Amino acid sequence: MILDIEMLRSFYASYSDSVKQAKATVKRPLTYAEKVLFAHLYDPTQLRPYKRGIEYVDFRPNRVAMQDATAQMALLQFMNAGKDKVAVPASVHCDHLIRADVGATADLPEACKTNKEVYDFLKSVSQKYHIGFWGPGAGIIHQVVLENYAFPGGMMVGTDSHTPNAGGLGMVAVGVGGADAVDVLTGQPWELKMPRLIGVHLKGKLSGWATPKDVILEILGILTVKGGTNAILEYFGEGLDSISTTGKATICNMGAELGATCSIFPFDENADEYLRKTGREEIAVLAQQNAAELRADDEVMANPSAFYDQIVEIDLSKVEPHLNGPFTPDAATPISHMKAKGPANDYPMVVEVGLVGSCTNSSYQDLARAASVARQAYEKGIEVKGQLIINPGSEQIRYTAERDGILDDFKKIGALIMTNACGPCIGQWKRHTDDNTRKNAIVTSFNRNFRRRADGNPNTYAFIGSPELTVALTIAGRLDFNPATDTLLDKEGNSVKLDAPTGYTFPPKGFAVEDKGFIAPSEDNANVEVVISPDSNRLQKLAPFAAWDGKDLTDMPLLIKTEGKCTTDHISMAGPWLKFRGHLQNISDNLLMGAVNAFNGESNKVKNQLDGKYVEVSTAAKAYKAQGISSIVVAEDNYGEGSSREHAAMEPRFLNVKVILAKSFARIHETNLKKQGMLALTFCNKDDYNKVQEDDRISLTGLKEFAPGSKLTVTLKHQDGSEDSFQVEHTYNDTQIAWFKAGSALNFAAKK
Ligand code: F3S
Repeated sequence: MILDIEMLRSFYASYSDSVKQAKATVKRPLTYAEKVLFAHLYDPTQLRPYKRGIEYVDFRPNRVAMQDATAQMALLQFMNAGKDKVAVPASVHCDHLIRADVGATADLPEACKTNKEVYDFLKSVSQKYHIGFWGPGAGIIHQVVLENYAFPGGMMVGTDSHTPNAGGLGMVAVGVGGADAVDVLTGQPWELKMPRLIGVHLKGKLSGWATPKDVILEILGILTVKGGTNAILEYFGEGLDSISTTGKATICNMGAELGATCSIFPFDENADEYLRKTGREEIAVLAQQNAAELRADDEVMANPSAFYDQIVEIDLSKVEPHLNGPFTPDAATPISHMKAKGPANDYPMVVEVGLVGSCTNSSYQDLARAASVARQAYEKGIEVKGQLIINPGSEQIRYTAERDGILDDFKKIGALIMTNACGPCIGQWKRHTDDNTRKNAIVTSFNRNFRRRADGNPNTYAFIGSPELTVALTIAGRLDFNPATDTLLDKEGNSVKLDAPTGYTFPPKGFAVEDKGFIAPSEDNANVEVVISPDSNRLQKLAPFAAWDGKDLTDMPLLIKTEGKCTTDHISMAGPWLKFRGHLQNISDNLLMGAVNAFNGESNKVKNQLDGKYVEVSTAAKAYKAQGISSIVVAEDNYGEGSSREHAAMEPRFLNVKVILAKSFARIHETNLKKQGMLALTFCNKDDYNKVQEDDRISLTGLKEFAPGSKLTVTLKHQDGSEDSFQVEHTYNDTQIAWFKAGSALNFAAKK
């Protein structure tokens, strides 16, 4: 069995008792999320009612999952920890580095060739340290985790922001940076701010073209990309019964787009069935024995507003198919509004490509329902206007879907079947287009739609919908096609309508697979050698960052003042740069290349204050570093939104940037900056952002008194000799300040 069953037996043997103990201590009923959190305290004697959104708590997660693009840096850091093996079960998934070009048959062998050095490293390091290894083609991390590792009541961290996908099966599953993962892998406490709780009450039932994806797309419109910050979204209500476990995982997956710590659904009959259908009967039995504590207490359900910090009500029967975008996942648009909204906003209305897949929507059920739409186009003789591309979620899903004729339904309308991998979702799409300069629209079943994300083209307008809607719009070739009301023409010119999608939740003949692509953790690691060539341009051993020198930071040149959205894609671009994720020096060349310079509106063009020339951001940073000068970045709200990639924190650290001063931060990125010994500071008064000028020399004082809750002072020396001074704040606790002083969390742990 792939799952560590001994760990699970021992976990469930004490889970319900831990929850009861927690209720007795805090003297009140608990929500489900609280039960899971309290059952995973690193030190159970520290059990008390923590202040949500304020106090930090040490946890002991059950497992760690890592994808190949982030695992490299995580495991390079773990190798420096001096351990023989990992302290908790862990897995590595090779899904991000595979190019989507001409189809799986040619792309997969090509990826194995191109990425051989990285795959060999990840395989050997996994064998060496007792980690499960899922090779290229095995599937997308979060689908594989849901099918094999997730379990109700568990806690997991993953080096990918969509780790919360496993909340669909009742886990507190949180996306973290590699340094956080190393804490868990080495058996140290994993620190998290006690999350606020947002209760989401689902009533009614989905019908017609509305899907679980549309539920989260609607919630994104309500709460926005910042609405879930430092919160867990806990779902409850009678509406849960009609949503499958994979549908719930889709909803939890995109909680990441809300900035949420994670999202969670309680254990129910659908979860029980999912466990059994994916070969985990024993866990289903153990979960049933603990069922009363794998959901919120009845008293909580009787009066939710007394227990959650915020309540969101969604009537599923009123949810309409949505198309969110472009450029941000919270631009929520019910499909029936697109006829007016599209032209009013000058969107390109022709859908050129539809892409089904990503960790969000690549389950068997997703493919089955989307295929039912494709099948209709073929059977009703409708000409398909756009190009359809499919990335199945795992080899098990692909194999079963092929056996059941689902992939044939797609192929009959000209679809290209790509590898079971992230592909276009992470910018690994070699798009074949006749004109890159044309404004164009694509529709995807993915979770992110930042500019340039899928194909690197700033002229591409990406919209997010369900797999079913993605296929329908690809067939129609129109962004404003509403399949519930509009008709299409068949080849004879007759008007025809698409019926609402249908499809099995589980394959009627059961899941099947010949080779899952899994290598189990090795018991015998004595002779395993982990090879990193000193000449490699893909992998580089890490040298520790320097400790703080005990002085204030004075006269730092402004590296860049960014304007508008600055996600981790803007800070450390994916796509072509993924190949350097194991090589800090090389990947640092992409530093902030997507960020918009507030002074000229351009990307990757900033003034080097040493010679006045406009250069790439990394070039300016390297010039300062070469002179031993520290620099500073200034940014707007939600800096670091998006991915968990810690490269976005390590690159500026490597290039001698000492401070990121923003209006606000996204949670994972703020933690990543702290872990790498950076200063992540926020304006006390957001208007002070406007005072920062291009030629400023910036000083930060008060570091000797740096303490939880303290304020620091920023002084701007402008080119004309005038000065501005204002206070900035931070969220560092004592431990995090110790990380800063030691140079990084890893340095601090090594010192201890
Ligand atoms: Fe991969 Fe895209 Fe998910 S990159 S892990 S499929 S968000």
